[in-house]
Amino acid sequence: MVYFFDLLYSQLLVKVPQQTADFTHQTVIVTGSNTGLGLEAARHLARLNAAKIILAVRTLSKGEAAAADISKSCNIPASRVEVWQLDMSNKDSITAFAKRASTLPRLDAAILNAGVFSFKRQEIDGTEAHLAVNVIGATLLELLLLPILRDSASRTGSRGRLTLVGSDMMYTVNPTELQNPDGAIFPRINSRGVLPEGNYYSYSKLLVYYATRRVAALNPVSEKSNVVITVQTPGACKSDLFRDDMSVFMKAVQAIAMSIFARSTEVGARTLVHAVSPQLPAEAHGGFLMDCQVQKPKYSVAEDNRVSSEQAKKWSEELFELIEEIAPEATKA
Ligand SMILES: NC(=O)c1ccc[n+]([C@@H]2O[C@H](COP(=O)([O-])OP(=O)(O)OC[C@H]3O[C@@H](n4cnc5c(N)ncnc54)[C@H](OP(=O)(O)O)[C@@H]3O)[C@@H](O)[C@H]2O)c1
Repeated sequence: MVYFFDLLYSQLLVKVPQQTADFTHQTVIVTGSNTGLGLEAARHLARLNAAKIILAVRTLSKGEAAAADISKSCNIPASRVEVWQLDMSNKDSITAFAKRASTLPRLDAAILNAGVFSFKRQEIDGTEAHLAVNVIGATLLELLLLPILRDSASRTGSRGRLTLVGSDMMYTVNPTELQNPDGAIFPRINSRGVLPEGNYYSYSKLLVYYATRRVAALNPVSEKSNVVITVQTPGACKSDLFRDDMSVFMKAVQAIAMSIFARSTEVGARTLVHAVSPQLPAEAHGGFLMDCQVQKPKYSVAEDNRVSSEQAKKWSEELFELIEEIAPEATKA
């Protein structure tokens, strides 16, 4: 309940600051940047002088249209916006993308923004789609990009930043529903009928937050690993995310609610850019950012009490094992 008051306050009263940090000389990856928040984040980065912006998209033609749009609207040379193929539901695509990223002369920041939302269960090779894309794909890419950002930071002396676009919707689910006293969490929650289908999106954002807290805890900001890792939420924004099949009535309700409540993607994208700002303090490491502020633990998810911290550890260990099967040594980098 407290969360809903905070959400209303955030959506209706908080003015998300325009970002002004300078990204001169910097290279930044933005996933899912052909549309929505990713596209607007890439546009902000272009405006803020990033030397190279890599649009990581699953359909190259959509990425090329986005790149042309950014270059035209910001009046920058087309060569500053590159389009690379990336399918976050495909482990080979993710590992190939990371391999390509390792050839960059420098990589200063990455915004892992690509994500899916659906009220209905869909599967990708036997894995529930939110778990496949928003959690496994995102954490795999996070782990593969971390050493590249770290190496770049040690070469350039400029601290790396890595952020995953989460959601405050994670506050709406009950973490105890993830527990499996008899064994592993993943096979249970991946089974049909265990979690309410309409809640998978929120669970996926909770699980990726758990995993990222663990990645951050294992890689504290130091001379050896000069990379600040965060999860952040843009707040509710008007985008194509809710493209799910809905009844005409539900579509109308949603359109009215969003028109009153939601931010534009330009405003929401400011929070993505804030999370990779060169000025982001090391204190943000491992934190959840909302309205460009690190959230203090105040809801069950963020509190290190009840089940959440033990559960986060158990889940992350399981997820890391899954990822090791896909990309051996990825979790040890
Ligand atoms: N909008 C909101 O209210 C809100 C609130 C909190 C958090 N978020 C988060 O913000 C992020 C961006 O969402 P958005 O609102 O901008 O939605 P969007 O307009 O639907 O954009 C989602 C992006 O992710 C890409 N994507 C989806 N599946 C992919 C895959 N398998 N491989 C590569 N790219 C994939 C999409 O590519 P295609 O165009 O090819 O499908 C698209 O570029 C998501 O992580 C979302 O969960 C959004």
